[in-house]
Amino acid sequence: MRTPTQLGIRAEAMLAELAAFTDGDGNLTRLYLSPAHRAAADRVASWMRDVGLDVGFDALGTVRGRLKPTAPGRAGNRRLLIGSHIDTVVNAGRYDGMLGVVAGILAIEEILARHVELPFGIDVLAFGEEEGVRFPSTLVSSSAVAGSLLPSDLDARDADGVVLRDALIAFGGNPDAVTSAAYAAEETLAYLEVHIEQGPVLEAAGLPLGVVTSIAGQSRFFVSVMGEAGHAGTVPMALRRDALAASAEMMLTIEEVARAGYAHQMVATVGRLAAKPGAVNVIPAEVVFTLDIRADADAPRLAAIAELEKRFQAIAIKRGVSVTLDKFYESPTTPCAPRLQEAFAGAVLDLGLAERRLASGAGHDGHAMHHLTDVGMLFVRCRGGISHNPAEFATVDDMGLAVEALIKAVERLAADAVSSGDST
Ligand code: GLV
Ligand code: MN
Ligand code: MN
Repeated sequence: MRTPTQLGIRAEAMLAELAAFTDGDGNLTRLYLSPAHRAAADRVASWMRDVGLDVGFDALGTVRGRLKPTAPGRAGNRRLLIGSHIDTVVNAGRYDGMLGVVAGILAIEEILARHVELPFGIDVLAFGEEEGVRFPSTLVSSSAVAGSLLPSDLDARDADGVVLRDALIAFGGNPDAVTSAAYAAEETLAYLEVHIEQGPVLEAAGLPLGVVTSIAGQSRFFVSVMGEAGHAGTVPMALRRDALAASAEMMLTIEEVARAGYAHQMVATVGRLAAKPGAVNVIPAEVVFTLDIRADADAPRLAAIAELEKRFQAIAIKRGVSVTLDKFYESPTTPCAPRLQEAFAGAVLDLGLAERRLASGAGHDGHAMHHLTDVGMLFVRCRGGISHNPAEFATVDDMGLAVEALIKAVERLAADAVSSGDST
């Protein structure tokens, strides 16, 4: 039996190994279905095999390690799912997503070493697509597992024009077998995920772990602004239809509307912008920018979007341009199941730590998994609340406590399943 510190040291070593699988040059960038994703997935698969799991890849590239029930005589057909993602943003840290996969593998290793009796099986899942960075269709791999992936999601194209379906074939997946990736709701017990907090709340509270209450809803758009190209030296300012200047005004409006929604933890981000024709002496004619907007409840988020649409139109009329919003992703606010919050809270208390509950502003595979089963999440303190940044950091001790809390939460669910006769 390893101590939390020993578990944390092992987690750190595994995360360091995974961080070496990158598409980037001197940084960690591992996009869905890239060669680095394939290499990382193969390494995860080998770790799963080493701890005794039965391992396979599903049609969308999710690595699945399967443990059979270990309680003789009480075993049922249900499965507890534990997972997270192994894709990253551009120039990422090494903890976001990967910690949840590593924690699941280490928890299984300990559960077997400690001879914990499980009346249900456990599948550890390493999803390939959570970030929505390469293709404009987010949570593809977990949506397939949850049975909610739309066939049209496979038609998405990346910035180089590569279609997701073709990238999947090159990876070794099977776009024609998408439905085979889905679990049946009756066979799943719950989905659990360990993840770094990606925010500053736990650090400010001086606590290593927190129990997640809900995952913020989010909407993502492409905003296209069309103006008219013209000579930078000859067209007077009053006669211009400058798509980039109009976009700049829209971006300030986005900030204003999001700030007004602070009571609902509203945040809005323009993370990417492209202007054409893109020359120093030509008035920009066409701009496309992304908008990502989130809040702790659906109604204020949807109201803010309606307000933005109205204000964008007013800016467009004033400046002689046109504007269209094309929504490419939306996820409602996802609640974490009270029984799973209790399992994690009990585990945290068992470790002698104070209990803290908090909402997640970041998106997670749990959004998709909620379509299939109950979702529970445990957050781990991260330094400075920094994430989506190479400076992302969690301590060995905090990660070890998270693995131990995950084991204890699984033990609690096992006890609940036995006492309620719910294992079948
Ligand atoms: C994923 O990390 C997201 O919240 O965008
Ligand atoms: Mn993540
Ligand atoms: Mn992320």
